[in-house]
Amino acid sequence: MKILIAYATTEGQTRKIVRFVADWLADKGESVELWPVAEAGDVDVGNFDRAILAGSVHLGHFQSTLEDFAKDRRAELDRIDTLFLGVSLSAAGNDPEDRAGLDQVMKSFTDKTGWLPKRVEHIAGAFRFTQYDFFRSWAMRWIAAQKGEEVERDQDKEYTDWKALGDVLNDWLSA
Ligand SMILES: Cc1cc2nc3c(=O)[nH]c(=O)nc-3n(C[C@H](O)[C@H](O)[C@H](O)COP(=O)(O)O)c2cc1C
Repeated sequence: MKILIAYATTEGQTRKIVRFVADWLADKGESVELWPVAEAGDVDVGNFDRAILAGSVHLGHFQSTLEDFAKDRRAELDRIDTLFLGVSLSAAGNDPEDRAGLDQVMKSFTDKTGWLPKRVEHIAGAFRFTQYDFFRSWAMRWIAAQKGEEVERDQDKEYTDWKALGDVLNDWLSA
């Protein structure tokens, strides 16, 4: 099966996640193409049997490049089986407010793009202090403190559950 993975990342965690996904699928014998959406202008979605789109949440939105890609290709995406991976810190843990927030983020994405992925999974991301500028670092430390998370200003902290992600992929492949 030919599977397209198109993604957007801001600090790099989504890139790490889709690389894991690509390796996992390749190990199962699938043929995978991995593209940052910013470079996927020539990619013909019609050449693929399935597609995974992935992006991360910043201030309540996915990357506009990802929105543009989904909007432009929605007709082709509608014809194949699709999985959307939304990476965020709200997906770490089971706070009902955070989960409701993610539903809103997803609704805003589908309203803007007109594309409804066949399956959506929210994946816990990471604090990437090594990538933040001074103000971001300060804001993210404040958010961590609100959540009762202990973080170091010069150390990344990852929440991604790789085993759970593998289970999602297993289920999606066998569906
Ligand atoms: C400036 C900023 C804003 C963020 N806003 C949100 C948010 O609104 N909701 C959320 O759940 N996570 C938010 N996050 C957390 C990111 O979604 C998380 O760090 C994710 O792993 C980033 O993925 P990336 O490295 O692929 O960009 C924010 C992170 C930053 C740095």
